[in-house]
Formats: sequence, structure tokens, C-alpha cells
Amino acid sequence: MTRKLRSQDWFGRQDRDGFSHRSWMKNQGLPGHLFDGRPIIGICNTFSELNPCNAHLRKIADHVKRGVYEAGGFPLEFPVSSLGESLMRPTAMLFRNLASMDVEEAIRAYPVDGVVLLTGCDKTTPSLVMGAASCDLPTIVVSGGPMLTGRWRGRKLGSGTDVWHFADAVRSGAMDFAEFSQAEAAMSRSAGHCMTMGTASTMASMVEALGLTLPENAAIPAVDSRRYVLAHESGSRIVGMVHEDLRLSKVLTRPAFENAIVVNGAIGGSTNAVIHLLAIAGRMGVDIDLSDWDRLGRNVPCLVNLMPSGAHQMEDFYYAGGLPAVMKEIENLLHGGALTVTGRSISDNIADAECHDRDVIHELASPFKPEGGIAVLRGNLAPDGAVIKPSAASPHLLKHRGRAVVFESIEQLHSTIDDDDLDIDENSVMVLKHCGPKGYPGMAEVGNMPLPAKLLKRGITDMVRISDARMSGTAFGTVVLHVAPEAAIGGPLALVQNGDMIELDVSARRIALDVPEAELARRRDAWQPPPSPPDARGGYSGLFVRHVMQADRGADFDFLVGCRGNEVVRESH
Ligand code: FES
Repeated sequence: MTRKLRSQDWFGRQDRDGFSHRSWMKNQGLPGHLFDGRPIIGICNTFSELNPCNAHLRKIADHVKRGVYEAGGFPLEFPVSSLGESLMRPTAMLFRNLASMDVEEAIRAYPVDGVVLLTGCDKTTPSLVMGAASCDLPTIVVSGGPMLTGRWRGRKLGSGTDVWHFADAVRSGAMDFAEFSQAEAAMSRSAGHCMTMGTASTMASMVEALGLTLPENAAIPAVDSRRYVLAHESGSRIVGMVHEDLRLSKVLTRPAFENAIVVNGAIGGSTNAVIHLLAIAGRMGVDIDLSDWDRLGRNVPCLVNLMPSGAHQMEDFYYAGGLPAVMKEIENLLHGGALTVTGRSISDNIADAECHDRDVIHELASPFKPEGGIAVLRGNLAPDGAVIKPSAASPHLLKHRGRAVVFESIEQLHSTIDDDDLDIDENSVMVLKHCGPKGYPGMAEVGNMPLPAKLLKRGITDMVRISDARMSGTAFGTVVLHVAPEAAIGGPLALVQNGDMIELDVSARRIALDVPEAELARRRDAWQPPPSPPDARGGYSGLFVRHVMQADRGADFDFLVGCRGNEVVRESH
């Protein structure tokens, strides 16, 4: 290689600064020849014992290092913020942009020539890719992999999805607390992230569809030895990418994003992918918007029979052929020439892909569900758009007109939802306000509101629900999400009152508040901004509320959009 590597600006110097850069590193027992100009690979690790989905990533990192050394590189592992979905308050999404800043600044500030991103839990994948995209070095993603399938009393349990089922069963009296407790341990029985096609599995699939991983990355279970092989091979490959100067901007092109949107439809992926891909595209300067999601995903059927839309789990998906088998099935819908981190195209990568179980991965000619993509709704209730996942909704509710039952906050919902005198029935439309990017703050995953216990007891399992919130990728129901503009900034959602009629027509992509314009104008004039949310009074949360953009812009910070490159002109002083 004749090109001088970035890291040589630190380690290739013969002056005082070069002495300092090398000398302190040698306190780790590193021999001098490692600083001889070979590619230095940063392993960006989201390991954390507080983030159980990523708690095994040190072992993955060890296998990446083997591959880096084998290919003649020098691996250096560094920690970045790890966002754990199951513990962080008030919502991990509040910290996605913060973590992306951590990643971006760490990559730029340190002497690395290429980066391996170790991801897993929902927000760790987008935050790392967003940060890396703003630096544009050669970058490869290695996901931690999904947990093994949950098993309890002879049945399969799916992360998240069965939590919603069990919680409703306890509230309706169909399950007692002892059984509920037993199921906890049975659900999460190995290392890895949620094993349903929730947000973590969706984002692992999205980075594979974008061409940012080696083939099969998304589905190999976390504890399967082939996950370590993939980590090893990714470590070797990133060294080659540095030699080839195969930077993120060569992979993250518009065709790559279009491929990911189509694949999201074919896997019945999470609505959260919409927000995260918009944010990643914004960092890369690729012009993708909500209408692309509807246009490209509209006719893509769901081929994958995985929870929450179906019956199986990521482990089954891997054995059936994983994402390469899905992409092979829909190859005619993809930009097959899109370049990937392998140095080859998507079509090259999937040339030999096969399906081994048609109950898990259906043929395009006989899909699992006819409509897999995310539908983007517009109308006077969501002028800047809202989304719904038709494959997770009840077909009979996709066209519905009902009376609004309004909750001004998630706390009000929880305190009143089980009141016997709550004026609500199965035809009502539940409306939740102030859970959007600024209103919560952080756009919580509360859009799949719990149904009233009195309706659950009557066997009602779904109702139309509308909010400016997000929804867990493991959740399901006829749930309209990401309404923009959000209620907290005076969007039309803020004007909805109990008893208003709301019309949902998914096939027409319409969401409308059936209230005369004169009355809406009167309410708009009388509208007062809500008080600051309890978790947004200062510090980082204050910064978040001031700078977060709406859902249709990926909820990124306005000042983080774009790629700022990886050059740092000044020496360290
Ligand atoms: Fe981490 Fe679901 S809680 S992936």
C-alpha cells in the first residue's frame, strides 16, 4: 500500500509527539512493530453489563481481533455509550443522538484507519452507524446476534411480543403472577438481543441490507459458533477495506437505502427502522424521506413468518437461510449492483443463497402476508406524516371511523385506562399526546397503548390507537405512530378532544380528524404549550428538546445532520 494511513499522523512521527503517542501505548505491552504503518482498526464496543443484549460483546471483540491480526492489522478496542432498551429511563431513544456524538467524536479523535462497530440492542446499531457516517472511514458492522428462542411449558416464547401477551393475560385474569414470573427466565435464556423481528433484529437486517456487514450477520444466534466466525472474518475484511479505501460513503448510497426499505417490507420489520434510516441517511447526505418509504415498500409483501407478525423467531430464520435467502427471493426488487463491505455487490453476495424452510421464509409468489411495508399516512391529523405497520395490524381495523378517547399523557392513560366508568368501547380510537421527540422527551415506545381491562375481558384484542410516540418493534396492533408535527409543538394531534370523530383508511394512506376547520382554528388559537416534561428541565435533556427534529426527519439533532469527515488538523495538546 502506498497511501499513507491516517494513523501514521500519530504513530509515524519522529518527533516529541510521536514519542508520546507510541510510548504511552507501549505500557500495554505492545511491541514497536505494531506501529510500523499497518492499518489500525478501532473496535467500537457497546459492551455493558447494564445492557444485557450487548453483555457478551467482549467475546465477539476477541474474535474480531483475531481476524484483524490475521490480515496484518492492529486492533484497538474502545468503549462507547451502550444504550440498553430494557433498563434506561425515560427511554433509550433519548440517548441515541448522544451516543452517536460519542461515537463520531471518538472515531475522529483517535488514530484509527478503519472501524468495526459492535452493536446489538435496538439503539446501539443506529447510534453507531450515525456517528460513523459523520466521519466516513472504512467501517464494518458486526451485530451481537439474537438470543436463542425462548422456551416455556412446551411453547416458544418471543422477546417482547410475549411480554405484551402475558401482561394482558394477567390484567384479564387469565394468567397468575407465579406463571408470569416463571416465564421471565424462560424467555431470555442465552446471550444476545431480542430474538423476535423487533427493532434489534430489524436494524441488524437493515445494516446487512445496506451492505454494511458480511452476509448472514443479522440472524446467526449470539451463542452459535458461526457468530464468532463471522466476527473473525469481519476483522480480516476491515483490514482489506482500509487498503481499498472502501469508505462508508461508497456503501451508503441512495440505492443501498432503497434496498433496505424494500427489505424492511419483506421481513415485516419494525416501524423504528423508518426513524433510524432517515437519521443515518441524513448523516450521509443521502436524500431519503418518508414518501420513499411508502413508495418503495408499498407493494412489498412480507415473506418472513416471524414474531411479532408471525410464529417463528430469529434462530429459525437463520436455519431457514436468513436474510440472504429473503434478498434472493426479492432480488428483482433490489438494486443488485449496490456495493457492499465485501467489495462485491449485493447480487454477488446472495448468488448462492437458498431457503431451507418455506414455513419460515415464503416465496414471493405465495407470501406470508400480502403487505409487509410501512404505510405512511397523511391528512389533517398528520400533515407531515404518520406510520403504521399493516402486517402487525388487524385487517378489519385498517379502514375505521371512531370516536376519540384522548389521553393527554402516558401517566393519565395508566391511571385511568382500567376505570370501569371510562367511556370507551372497541370502536373508539385511543389518542395519546405528548409522547413525541420533544414532548416525552425522547419519543417513547408507548404507542401500543394497553387496552382497557374491561374490553380485554370481553375478548377484544385490538383497537385503533394513534399517537406521536413510537412502538417497540416486538409489539403489534392497529397502531398509528410518529404523528408529525407532534402535540407538544402544537401539531394537530394537540387539538383532538374526546368525542371527535377520526377516520383511518390505510389503503388510501389517510388519517383525518373530522372536525370543521373553523372549530380547529378556534382550538389552535386557544392552544397553550404544555409545561416542560419532567425529564427535560436542563442538561442533556434540555439540549435534546431544543435541537431534536421531528419524526419525519429521523429525530436527529439539527446540528448533527451531515458528514463532517475524519480530519483533525491540530496535534493533541
Ligand atoms: Fe435489547 Fe430488545 S431489549 S434488543
